[in-house]
Amino acid sequence: MTNGSPTKKPLRSARWFDADDLRGFGHRSRLMQMGYGLDDWDGRPVIAIINTWSDINPCHVHFRHRVEDVKRGILQSGGFPLELPAISLSENFVKPTTMLYRNLLAMETEELLRSHPVDGAVLMGGCDKTTPGLLLGAISLDLPAIFMPAGPMLRGNLRGEVLGSGSDAWKYWDERRAGKIDAAEWQAVEAGIARSYGHCMTMGTASTMTAIAEAMGMSLPGASSIPAADAGHIRMASATGRRIVAMVDEDLRPSAILSRSAFDNAIVVAMAMGCSTNAVIHLVAMARRADHAVGLDDFEQASRRVPVLANVRPSGERYLMEDFFYAGGLTGLLNRLSDLLDKDAMTVTGERFGAGFADAPVWNDDVIRPLDRPVSTEPAMAVLTGNLAPRGCVMKPSAADPRLLKHSGPALVFDSYEEMKRRIDDPDLDVTPDTVLVMRGAGPQGGPGMPEWGMLPIPQKLLRQGVRDMLRISDARMSGTSYGACVLHVSPESHVGGPLALVRSGDTIAVDVAARTIDMVVEPAELEARRAAWRAPEPRFGRGYGWMFSRHIGQAHEGCDFDFLETGFGPATGEPAI
Ligand code: FES
Ligand code: MG
Repeated sequence: MTNGSPTKKPLRSARWFDADDLRGFGHRSRLMQMGYGLDDWDGRPVIAIINTWSDINPCHVHFRHRVEDVKRGILQSGGFPLELPAISLSENFVKPTTMLYRNLLAMETEELLRSHPVDGAVLMGGCDKTTPGLLLGAISLDLPAIFMPAGPMLRGNLRGEVLGSGSDAWKYWDERRAGKIDAAEWQAVEAGIARSYGHCMTMGTASTMTAIAEAMGMSLPGASSIPAADAGHIRMASATGRRIVAMVDEDLRPSAILSRSAFDNAIVVAMAMGCSTNAVIHLVAMARRADHAVGLDDFEQASRRVPVLANVRPSGERYLMEDFFYAGGLTGLLNRLSDLLDKDAMTVTGERFGAGFADAPVWNDDVIRPLDRPVSTEPAMAVLTGNLAPRGCVMKPSAADPRLLKHSGPALVFDSYEEMKRRIDDPDLDVTPDTVLVMRGAGPQGGPGMPEWGMLPIPQKLLRQGVRDMLRISDARMSGTSYGACVLHVSPESHVGGPLALVRSGDTIAVDVAARTIDMVVEPAELEARRAAWRAPEPRFGRGYGWMFSRHIGQAHEGCDFDFLETGFGPATGEPAI
């Protein structure tokens, strides 16, 4: 059998296909059963396409067809494409939260690649957790891999007005609860807010994470900004397919791309994009898989020197990803950030990072701001610490009412999401605009899975008085499309006995974003007494995946990876016996 050129490293897939033994016979005869002949595979890199399509993921619904364009590119370059479906993690429909399953997708990606006869992989994702899930698995297995982003959906439309994913859902829902809009208008919002396939088109977790994948060097330059419904997205898909075949020839693996610089570049880009707070958790997890000690401090330092330049909601005023694309997209933004980036980092193109944006234009300075005219004087994200969050927590100052950036007020504590939902609109709720809403039991263990509950609703009685923002604190995450003075990811979480478990209604809570502090003003002796009386809640699961999750999930500041998936947990698994 031939196996590419004799000077090249043998293909990994040749272990399945080339051997003149009974196993090799079995593999070849079963390929022939599917209508393939020797010319289809012999000497050709086998490319896995990990496709996170499903009938109930509107963000990836075009993947069913788009995968054919990826295959076209692979075939054009002499590869042999094999589509391997993986769990879809539809952000809207999967309960209690897709975050419960990010690591399941990571495991699935790693094991799909390990166990099949493949030489490289195209990773098709975009809806929030799919990007980090796919990348985590690909990093750990370390076969040549390239990420193909789903692309944002088109701008929403309500009678000629632009609507943004998530952000306008929250906004109009508050208006509805305040009695300002009727059922007919609400239905018009429903019909207009998501009018094409593709992921959320605000700067939510999806747009943030696909930009991060590109900034890490794992996607073709410019790929992440192309709207899903643009013909350019189809061309990008086939170009991605063409490129992965060459990457196998070059043996260009994630480990050669994901240097420390790749992650530093990603953090700078996240900040300049006005990123979703979820980016912190996913980037920390990915960096740790690549064996780099990235933590909350790295985000905190970047937040102080990188201005928000992408004027995309919710940090920005009015624009969406479609506008960002027309304005020059990520390559335009990277060009503006050039001096803050390591342009020598390697990328999937085989060229240095800087080559992908050296001449990239910006067409609209209002959408992609120059460095001296940022979207906000506040950073995209701030990391706070104090006696309420010894291992840190995050908030998004650029999306908060400035009056709440230095605030102290009495806590109103909810022990769970259910309790919060039951009580929040009670007309007798003891609450003023200065109250600090606190919710616990929503972290990685407590939620479980750390759901996006952190933008606690404003109590209805205050909404009716015109209040639209309050200081809110929880161990939950929040959607990247959310906004407001929401302090999130409090670590350690209450379920494992973090100090959030000890707060009581009426305690004074003080947050000072400029000083990066968050404290409850309670005497140490009193806190000690409360700690002594604290009892750990029952575990959330008695069997199955959830049980494994509860035993092995890390805290937010560690990236919420499973301990046994982290680098250095044990000896490498290695190649399967055939
Ligand atoms: Fe898929 Fe928002 S629901 S990206
Ligand atoms: Mg989201």
